[in-house]
Amino acid sequence: MDIALISIFPHYFDALEQFGITSGAIKKKCCQLHFFNPRDYTTDRYQSVDDRPYGGGPGMVMRPEPLSKAILAAKEKLGADASVIYLDPKGSTLQQSHIENYAQLQIPLILLCGRYEGIDQRIIDTLVDESISIGDYVLSGGEIPAMVLVDAIIRLLPEVLNSQASALEDSFSSANNGALDYPHYTRPPSWQQLEVPKVLMSGDHQKIAAFRESQRPTAKKNKS
Ligand SMILES: C[S@@+](CC[C@H](N)C(=O)[O-])C[C@H]1O[C@@H](n2cnc3c(N)ncnc32)[C@H](O)[C@@H]1O
Repeated sequence: MDIALISIFPHYFDALEQFGITSGAIKKKCCQLHFFNPRDYTTDRYQSVDDRPYGGGPGMVMRPEPLSKAILAAKEKLGADASVIYLDPKGSTLQQSHIENYAQLQIPLILLCGRYEGIDQRIIDTLVDESISIGDYVLSGGEIPAMVLVDAIIRLLPEVLNSQASALEDSFSSANNGALDYPHYTRPPSWQQLEVPKVLMSGDHQKIAAFRESQRPTAKKNKS
């Protein structure tokens, strides 16, 4: 699967290429990351990607020209059917069902990472297909939200996880009707006077499955 990242800080994504499951998937070419830095599409000597907001107010806004050129360059590389996603706190909140769709369809994605106060609205109106938020809080840039999206997609791609069953059993998986995961235990059997439930060491697979089902949380503990 091809994913383009439009960012003025491409080195953020080094971690995806260097560590863990995402690194392995990129090395195996299950997923290929492509980088487009809006600064490379500027024409002034300062390579400025931002400017003051019309109407006044604090902060700067990302200029439309370098962003549109970067998006078009990404489309040229990934194909015209590539879907442009803007990481935006105002977008629809990311859910596992979105991730499953992206991983199943494998349509190339172009992830647009904002900075400053955000990007010129005309880019959103004309070139963005979908706006995605990773939650109701504001980060300083779209790189970490884009990494969240890429990591979550990669682990669902075929041949990425050693055991594909583990992804199907994870919390929110549609294969499990969105259920939350059961508690996990490993050795030692007794730790700080806390014992592993005996049934898990019984070898009785039916009983183990029934016990695990009974231990799934029915709802997340969100503080209000
Ligand atoms: C400082 S934020 C801009 C926040 C914007 N002024 C607002 O209040 O909605 C800069 C960039 O970070 C990214 N960003 C910040 N929080 C995010 C979130 N929760 N989900 C997705 N992207 C986010 C977006 O790309 C945004 O353009």
